[in-house]
Amino acid sequence: MKIEIADKIYFVGIQDWNLRNFHGYSTHRGSTYNSYLIMDDKIALIDQVKGQFTEQFINNVKEIVDLDKIDYLICNHLEGDHSQSLAAFSELAKNAQIVTSERGKPGFLRMYKKKWDIKAVKEGDTIKLGKRTLTFVPIPMVHWPDSMVTYCTPDNILFSNDAFGQHICRSKIFDDQNDLNKIMDEAKKYYANIVMHVSSIIMRVLKKVSEELKLDVKMIAPSHGVIWRSNVDKILEKYAYWAGRNTEEKVLIIYATMWHSTEKMAFAILEGIKQEGVEAKLYNINITDNSDIIKEVLDSKGLLIGTPTINNGMFPSISGFLTYLKGLRPPAKIASAFGSYGWSPKGGVEAAIEELKQAKIPEIIDPIKFQFIPDPEEFDECVEWGRQFAKKIKSL
Ligand code: FEO
Repeated sequence: MKIEIADKIYFVGIQDWNLRNFHGYSTHRGSTYNSYLIMDDKIALIDQVKGQFTEQFINNVKEIVDLDKIDYLICNHLEGDHSQSLAAFSELAKNAQIVTSERGKPGFLRMYKKKWDIKAVKEGDTIKLGKRTLTFVPIPMVHWPDSMVTYCTPDNILFSNDAFGQHICRSKIFDDQNDLNKIMDEAKKYYANIVMHVSSIIMRVLKKVSEELKLDVKMIAPSHGVIWRSNVDKILEKYAYWAGRNTEEKVLIIYATMWHSTEKMAFAILEGIKQEGVEAKLYNINITDNSDIIKEVLDSKGLLIGTPTINNGMFPSISGFLTYLKGLRPPAKIASAFGSYGWSPKGGVEAAIEELKQAKIPEIIDPIKFQFIPDPEEFDECVEWGRQFAKKIKSL
């Protein structure tokens, strides 16, 4: 598949229609591994693809140019979805110089065990292709320490690798050819799961792009999902909003249940929150995928975690979710836990509270818990507890 995205710049990437799980991230709409071929006096290929698609990828590029005519293989990021084809590809592109960030170079050598002569570039380094120039800007931790972006002038295209990506596969590859709400929804999920924990770095990168480098970005060509050409301002605004850790007056109730007591408590708490007119969303962790819930975490002010006690601790799926949540540094301002217990009065709820503290959520409210099946009055207490939590949310 080749599509010209600008004069003599081609999309030559791979569309992975059937992908439904990307290392634990649910990809309901598939994904893509985008690669771009720039034809100038010198020829550059931006990024590689996942290993299983190597042959298809080579054929995509061959449709436009013989591989031994390529001068540069720009590798913005080491992770396998953008690099696994490199070993086979570089054997054929035998005149091409591999280009990575400084931090990428040892990573590529370690990962692929090759004696490559890699050109490592630092911030502001350039490669002149002819009428076009490529400028490199490292963006460490978006998504790995080695990550960088490549900026192409005079077209003003930002080849942003993971940044601004979305796990979505579409036959039409530009933002304006698709339903923008769906694309933004996937961009939000991608940000929440891949980028949220490095929001401060995103803020610095956005500042650098606008204030220091003064890049007049006309197109953002990420390595996953559609290319931004008509909504560049909108996705930049969204990134600034998410990176600012802004939250909305919204509570997420996330729970597991064994014999439905914790579930009934969850619904009673939901009722209390609704009575206060605060938006709430409720998820049984055993039904909804972690990565879909994390998308909602991105802009939620409050988090409530429900768990029964099992073996003196949390329900395993809640434990797994909180482990994932902690690493992503959620922007929530307030949180608590609730649940039913059996023989041991201390266990799941207390463990969940400890995890929420480790997630560095600033305010943790005293939890609520009841033994076995709560009485009607105790369910009323849950409603009231939900109301008080919602009032706190409104006061922040
Ligand atoms: Fe799409 Fe960090 O790889």
